Amino acid sequence: MTFGAISAQSRFEVFSANSNRVEVFASSAEASDAVAVAILRAVAENPDIVLGLATGNTPRKVYAQLSRAVSSGRASFARATTFNLDEYCGLHKAHPDSFAAYMRRELFDKTDFSDDRINLIDGAAQDSVREARRFADALLRKPIDLQLLGLGSNGHIGFNEPGSTIDSRVRCVELSAETLLANQETLIELQDVPSHATTMGIADILGARSIIILATGSAKAQAVRHCIEGGPSATWPGSFLSTHPHVHWFLDQDAARFLEKPR
Ligand code: GLP
Repeated sequence: MTFGAISAQSRFEVFSANSNRVEVFASSAEASDAVAVAILRAVAENPDIVLGLATGNTPRKVYAQLSRAVSSGRASFARATTFNLDEYCGLHKAHPDSFAAYMRRELFDKTDFSDDRINLIDGAAQDSVREARRFADALLRKPIDLQLLGLGSNGHIGFNEPGSTIDSRVRCVELSAETLLANQETLIELQDVPSHATTMGIADILGARSIIILATGSAKAQAVRHCIEGGPSATWPGSFLSTHPHVHWFLDQDAARFLEKPR
């Protein structure tokens, strides 16, 4: 990846859906590189940026590129602030299956983010309602400039499962059967995926000034179609992104295959 340059061949489709910009790339690697470039540009423009970050398999390649950019001296996140989207309930941040541990492994330990500007939900908090309120207050004090999202195969963003409303805020939710199944393969030590998680709500996510959403692989194709072309609906929570003025979808061909494009 060259910082700031994605070849014309790899970015082979760009179109707009509602106010959302949609770009389709030949592969997940190319889509991930493009997301990394967009984040690096945003940080170069505003070193004090507030980033919203996601976990899951999807952003791994993005985080690898960001890590490379820092270790080669092309970028610094020393002044950036981060907020993570979600965390499993009941897991301490030291547990290898916690999203806190994921973030350390994939990004924080390989870059120069400052510990005191990293905001994570405490999955081990005794009182999850109070912990949700604490995190929501921190978000209100530091609005997110750029939110990175992945997409669940059921259309969830963060852990806002189908049925989540557009005005939902940080809260503890029960995970759907589809999400439990999808996340089973990501476990390192646990036998089963925790049944509950605390997540930013849809309203918190839509409060970000701009949003990048990366979806790759054919398992996401149905959700991508509903979220981009279906109109806002709680059935596919990612579809609420169509109400936001600055959303940029980065897709690979597999994730984009059910879109009726170009328009
Ligand atoms: C996870 C996370 C989401 C993530 C989504 C997709 O469980 N809560 O933030 O975007 O589900 O995960 P993956 O990227 O592994 O497909």
